Amino acid sequence: MEIIKRKTLKQKPAAGTKLGFGQYFTDYMFTMKYTREAGWHDAKIEPNEPQPFDLATSVLHYAQGIFEGMKAFLQPDGKVAVFRPEENWARMNRSAERMCIPQFPVDRVQEGLDALLKLEKDWIPKERGTALYIRPTIVATRVMLGVHASTEYLFFIILSPVGSYYAHGLEPTKLIAEDFFVRSAIGGTGEAKCLGNYAASMKAGEIAESKGFDQVLWLDANEKKYVEEVGSMNMFFVIGGEVVTPALVGSILPGITRKSCIQVLRDRGYRVGERRISIDEVIAGAESGALTEAFGTGTAAVISPVGLIRYRDRDYTIGGGKMGSVTKELYAAITGIQYGELPDPYGWRRIVP
Ligand code: COI
Repeated sequence: MEIIKRKTLKQKPAAGTKLGFGQYFTDYMFTMKYTREAGWHDAKIEPNEPQPFDLATSVLHYAQGIFEGMKAFLQPDGKVAVFRPEENWARMNRSAERMCIPQFPVDRVQEGLDALLKLEKDWIPKERGTALYIRPTIVATRVMLGVHASTEYLFFIILSPVGSYYAHGLEPTKLIAEDFFVRSAIGGTGEAKCLGNYAASMKAGEIAESKGFDQVLWLDANEKKYVEEVGSMNMFFVIGGEVVTPALVGSILPGITRKSCIQVLRDRGYRVGERRISIDEVIAGAESGALTEAFGTGTAAVISPVGLIRYRDRDYTIGGGKMGSVTKELYAAITGIQYGELPDPYGWRRIVP
């Protein structure tokens, strides 16, 4: 694979800088092109610089594009580990199928990511709670305005040193259960990690933020009755001692952190249910005290406690608004594996060769 080296204008954040999420980007990126004639080709690593593009490039008009989120963690022995990348590649190819994007060769992009991480190792932040966020993306690049799947695509991977996704770190988040706007319906694109899902969520997100909330808790589009997800996180609730999470009914993103949490919890002896959970059940649980904890899971969000849910103008505090014991245990278990502090019985750490 070609590696094009050139001095770039990127500045590494000084040690101790509050990184936030997705504000700094590294010097290099991986790119690969697709045309109908040549298939996926021209894989290379090149400087991450602004790209010239035609304003009729189809992704700009019809959002035919998908992405992923992964993280690389510096290990105590100085090696670099990526958490379950094979799961992200598999999901990305499923998203590609939904969005009429051609399947990409996993081995070639994994090789590209390894080479990129080797080159950019110095950008991996060292403090606990930070990581190098990996953003693989595919966009439709054919210059045309017809509403058809593109015949040309660009696959790229950019890297960003990140801290916690929420400005307030591990402080419990406040969510508004949304009963007007919807994120996705069955048969829509909610299961795919496609660009438009995130654009569609912004209106309700802005309203929630203007009211002092962190994010939106989406309900199902059909009945506005069942809890789905948060957009950047899957949701879990601890109700009557059982840990429950919305079943993947077709409109919910199948999170890799979600899947990992279910496995860790079951292996530690917790009862974990994947089922439909109505907002009424959540509210009743908050009122009776049966709902002791709620938390979200995601690559960016990691394990984030939820301390309050507003629904139809009433606020329901969960677990006294504090991070609960199951959430704490899971946070320690998952991040312990990611940062190489705990054994990895599942083989979830992929060490960059
Ligand atoms: C992630 O957790 O990686 C996501 O993609 C969620 C969000 C930041 C878009």
